[in-house]
Amino acid sequence: MDFLLKAFSLLTFIFFGVNSFAQTSTDKNTLKFNNGNIDEFVEWLDTRGEIINAHDGGIIFVSGKYYWYGLALRALGQDKGEKNGAATETGINLYSSNNLLEWNYEGVVLSTSNDVQSPLRSPMRLERPKIIYNKKTKKFVMWFHYVGYPGNHGQEIGFADAGVAVSDKITGPFKYIGHHRPINDSGAVKDCTLFMENDSTAYFIFDRKMPDGSRCLHITKLSDDFLHTTDTWAKIDVANRREAPTVIKQNGTYFLVTSDVSGWKANAAKTYKSSDIFGPWAEAGNPCVGEQKESTYNTQCTYAFKVSVTENSYIIMLERHNTSNFLKCSYVWLPIEIDKNQQLYFSYKKEWYLDSMFSSKE
Ligand code: DGJ
Repeated sequence: MDFLLKAFSLLTFIFFGVNSFAQTSTDKNTLKFNNGNIDEFVEWLDTRGEIINAHDGGIIFVSGKYYWYGLALRALGQDKGEKNGAATETGINLYSSNNLLEWNYEGVVLSTSNDVQSPLRSPMRLERPKIIYNKKTKKFVMWFHYVGYPGNHGQEIGFADAGVAVSDKITGPFKYIGHHRPINDSGAVKDCTLFMENDSTAYFIFDRKMPDGSRCLHITKLSDDFLHTTDTWAKIDVANRREAPTVIKQNGTYFLVTSDVSGWKANAAKTYKSSDIFGPWAEAGNPCVGEQKESTYNTQCTYAFKVSVTENSYIIMLERHNTSNFLKCSYVWLPIEIDKNQQLYFSYKKEWYLDSMFSSKE
């Protein structure tokens, strides 16, 4: 019965979601995710017709709407040999959608600054931002890998820290709180993500690089207000030299999807599993299958999120980096499949429809 109710609300979602998009579209075949060929850079456009500029971010579902946030990249600089073309002069952009396909630009929710004294002095990086909602404080909290002006990667404090910002509304403005090094104030913070349990316990998961060059994913519990890391932490010791982490939980199992470490060059993803977020974690193989599985289909993972009205339906957001013009990196979104042996996969689909993901669950 519960299943039937869910299936009904699911169909309602598909019907309204797709119809509302169809009203603005002349071609029914555009009602789909278009990832393109594995070597292709497809432009995903917002409702203004502009390229969606929200990189390495995530999705949050608020009051019936999906919000997609990410770093606003710039095209400047690379032609002058600058190495920080992936820096931002803007901050974090936000888009909203009812159907995950049609995205309205909501504006900049965390802005960089022209003030030379500001920790958000432009250009800089707020890499891999993630947002969760704190029910107790009624605030949206954003964490990211903080890289100060001029946005070049480094290991010094101020170039590889955990940054945090907060807002009363998802649409911002987010107030910058500060940046620090979790776990004994030591170890550079590189790629990172957030994970929140149903009971609102939340965790910051990050690539921790030590002065001797060793690096490994670590997890630290956040304080009740989500504004601080705590002394409750663990090293995910099997996840040595892994980047781009994202975590989902299904039927009591945590799945951690990661990339290897090779700068902007695509490499093989690897999944880890555990029944306890603090471990022990076990390697669970490459989640990709078939052509270009060793390059994650020429992408790197960004974030995985649950589609709101369904149970156990997840989408993984990946990004195909374009270092000759970061504004033209392309997005690749794929449905996640978890089989009866609790193996997590995402196979490549040049294009796919939301309802096909749902029907495969029936
Ligand atoms: C790989 C990381 O996953 C990205 O977020 C970015 O930091 C690049 N390395 C920079 O080379």
